[in-house]
Amino acid sequence: MRLDKYISNATDLSRTEAKRLIKTGEVTLDDRAVVNPAQKVRPDQTVAIEGSTITLAQHRYFMMNKPAGIVSVTKDHNNPTAIGLMYEHRSEELQIAGRLDIDTTGLLLITDDGQWNHRLTSPRSDCAKIYQVGLAEAIGNDYQAALAAGVLLEGEKHRCMPAHMEQIDQHHLRLSIAEGKYHQVKRMFAALGNHVVSLHRSQVGDIILDPELEPGDYRPLTELEVSSIQ
Ligand code: URA
Repeated sequence: MRLDKYISNATDLSRTEAKRLIKTGEVTLDDRAVVNPAQKVRPDQTVAIEGSTITLAQHRYFMMNKPAGIVSVTKDHNNPTAIGLMYEHRSEELQIAGRLDIDTTGLLLITDDGQWNHRLTSPRSDCAKIYQVGLAEAIGNDYQAALAAGVLLEGEKHRCMPAHMEQIDQHHLRLSIAEGKYHQVKRMFAALGNHVVSLHRSQVGDIILDPELEPGDYRPLTELEVSSIQ
């Protein structure tokens, strides 16, 4: 990992602040001052700021196969929550990275790493999300072009970013979108005069829902899955 990234992950400093700090010469790598923010840090090396060693927090990252009927908020008085299905200590520190509606199933990402969550969910993130969508009415011939041009959702001033669809049958399709607006998929098809009757998320960026996970089950993400979200 780059030294500036290591410092911003291990402390409260932003990447820019970390770069500035490194340039002052106060940062050492294995006791040698380093002034290049792009310097690589190996896992066996020791980073120190003004002589005090810093270490990376051990964050936790999970994927869950979210069942229907479960809400993706941390606390809810009326419905069971995704975090409530987990057997993790300090579960109050866990956050949902990209919510799903109560009736949506599939890939839910959960972490206690706020920066990682932000990278995944910020409006500037162009991380693709893939959904299997079931529609009440048959898929229109114009859908592919309308989605590629960017659908205008009710109540919004700007069109959605281009979306890509692959038709599975008359009522089912695979949809890839780059944004995560509130109820986006349901609102996109409402704008096209249709109605979503089933919605399942199978992929976020390079993270694919593990087919071994039964609804309600979860597992830690692999290092590769975690680092795929940049
Ligand atoms: N879009 C929706 O409308 N609902 C979801 O749960 C996810 C995306």
